Amino acid sequence: MPGIVIVGTQWGDEGKGKITDLLAERADAVVRFQGGNNAGHTIVRDGVEFKLHLVPSGILYPGRRCIIGNGVVVDPSVLLGEIHELRARRIDTSGLKVSANAHVIMPYHLLLDTAGEARLGKLQIGTTKRGIGPAYADKASRLGIRIQDLLDERILKKKITAALEPHRLALRPYELDPELDLHTMTEQHLTYGRQLQEYIADTSRLVWESLEQGHVVLFEGAQGAMLDIDHGTYPFVTSSNPLAGAACVGAGIGPRDIDEVWGVCKAYTTRVGSGPFPTELDDELGERIRTRGAEYGTTTGRPRRIGWLDLVALRYAARLNTLSALAITKLDVLSGLDELAVCTHYSGEEDAIFDEFPYHQSVLHHARGEFTPLESWSEDIGECRSEDELPAAARDYLAFIADFVGVPIAMISVGAGRDQTIWTSLGAESLVGTAAPSRGD
Ligand code: GDP
Ligand code: IMO
Ligand code: MG
Repeated sequence: MPGIVIVGTQWGDEGKGKITDLLAERADAVVRFQGGNNAGHTIVRDGVEFKLHLVPSGILYPGRRCIIGNGVVVDPSVLLGEIHELRARRIDTSGLKVSANAHVIMPYHLLLDTAGEARLGKLQIGTTKRGIGPAYADKASRLGIRIQDLLDERILKKKITAALEPHRLALRPYELDPELDLHTMTEQHLTYGRQLQEYIADTSRLVWESLEQGHVVLFEGAQGAMLDIDHGTYPFVTSSNPLAGAACVGAGIGPRDIDEVWGVCKAYTTRVGSGPFPTELDDELGERIRTRGAEYGTTTGRPRRIGWLDLVALRYAARLNTLSALAITKLDVLSGLDELAVCTHYSGEEDAIFDEFPYHQSVLHHARGEFTPLESWSEDIGECRSEDELPAAARDYLAFIADFVGVPIAMISVGAGRDQTIWTSLGAESLVGTAAPSRGD
């Protein structure tokens, strides 16, 4: 099973960082294939927390190939900051590589993101304001600056000049901002180029090499299916495709290199930013879950919106990704609730009932979750290490999910720590025969 894609099945923050870190033990390479530093992936090792935004969640294994693929948009100052911080914490970053073809988030992208949100007023998306949308827009307009451009002064200057031209009107309020001065921007980015040079590579080739040698390669998704620009709750989405299919284009491999797709799913739902959320609990119970689950954004610190688990959306995500397995996270957060429910269909206007995720935006905006109550449990489950140790009600909750969605569960997470993990027989089996990699450790 060499190529494994790990994706978020909800609106992001499902716990992809923890799951990727766990699976990375057996992998030769971990590849980010889309998104940018809008992502915030948390790993907790021996009680110590690492928050990663661009660097793949395999970096804590010395020498592990950690690849930022061509599909990622890279803010070089953020990447350099992250490398610096990791090194300061004595983490070996020698395995890190960034694609020469990845696009660069430029200072004007940050300004355009903020200005765009301000212009939208009440209709704003609630972006992370990291310049993600404008950077992808310039990529599609063929006005993007790529990582390789940071290594050539003449090309860089020409490209920045061309890129600024169509944004002149929108950037007029910032005209005097020294960051936008052509000379300053060029010099600054040439410096970034020199600092990043040792990491810049033909990453598609590196991924291919690992796969050719029969090693396990993990493709680490950012965000989640419902934030997908094509299939999510558009326009309240991110500007890339967080679906498994995007791993191919964003890393430079073919679909036949993917053997498994693991969907990470929180035992309830959260969403940061605006947009429809049919199972939202905008009440005291939601507040209780937010506090218990520490549901505040890793990147922006914003409180996350909370809701019951949405099985309609999860089944949709399973289909879009052809999930082979589920990893259910944060089950521990549901312990001790007086009530517990999952959404099995939506109701809409004029008593309409929807079993499938509606494609029509107006239908979706009116959709309300219809819930099936399930038995709750009171026991603290943070110390459970096998399915048998879980309370019967928790096991039933998991069985209901797997049954409804038609995807087996490979792993259950009962706390942020590495050890707070339960492997089901499927999860344990998947990893049999995958030797730990030999390179670097
Ligand atoms: P990601 O963006 O999908 O990687 O997820 P985030 O890191 O943004 O958010 C998940 C948060 O939940 C992080 O703070 C994790 O440390 C934490 N976490 C992950 N799994 C569990 C779990 O099973 N239980 C609890 N209580 N916390 C978890
Ligand atoms: P991880 O990888 C949760 C959301 C933003 C906003 C929308 C668009 O940690 O799961 P953007 O800045 O991408 O243009 O914002 O997408 N968003 C995320 N929500 N987790 C993330 O990443 C997110 N990345 C973007 O809140 O609603
Ligand atoms: Mg996150």
